[in-house]
Amino acid sequence: MDVADMGEDLKEVLVTEEEIGLRLDEMAARIDADYAGQDLLLVGVLKGAVYVMADLSRRLHRSAPMDWMAVSSYGSGTKSSGVVRILKDLDTDITDRHVLIVEDIIDSGLTLSWLVGNLSSRGAASVEIAALLRKPEAAKVEVDVKYVGFDIPTEFVVGYGLDYAEQYRNLPFIGTLRPEVYGG
Ligand code: XMP
Ligand code: MG
Repeated sequence: MDVADMGEDLKEVLVTEEEIGLRLDEMAARIDADYAGQDLLLVGVLKGAVYVMADLSRRLHRSAPMDWMAVSSYGSGTKSSGVVRILKDLDTDITDRHVLIVEDIIDSGLTLSWLVGNLSSRGAASVEIAALLRKPEAAKVEVDVKYVGFDIPTEFVVGYGLDYAEQYRNLPFIGTLRPEVYGG
């Protein structure tokens, strides 16, 4: 699929590349301030958070080691299954570490609330979340996202790390797909 084909599949652009960059500047400044004098470990959730991790971490004015987890809650479809499975675990012992989970999106909140519980149970000093996007559904679960980029409507989005069936991740902005594309 070339760029023109990806463009044809899009319905609209929800968040532009420039808006993402400006918001990440703000989030990074807050993280710098909040974690001043503390040891910080960024934990990215593969694969969607790759772009957020790269662009957020390089905006921090501090050392910020990173580690990665891969969990599965979605399969290749567009609905959360509610079942979270660890596909790749951390390489790091997080006992007494201040952990900041870096995520692309919080939708039902099932994945992140499970992840916060899981990492807390390993003895982390603190576990907080930075998510680029949040859908309204997330308000229904007990998961406190300390740093949120953008609140977006309940619609399936792609780009900036987010995929549909592994496509569209490398679009530099957040967009919605025409329903025909996923048979909606
Ligand atoms: P929950 O529902 O557990 O979901 O908060 C979190 C994970 O689901 C994926 N997700 C999406 N992926 N477009 C995507 O490409 C979306 O609109 C979307 N909503 C949820 C994502 O992997 C996230 O980590
Ligand atoms: Mg994801």
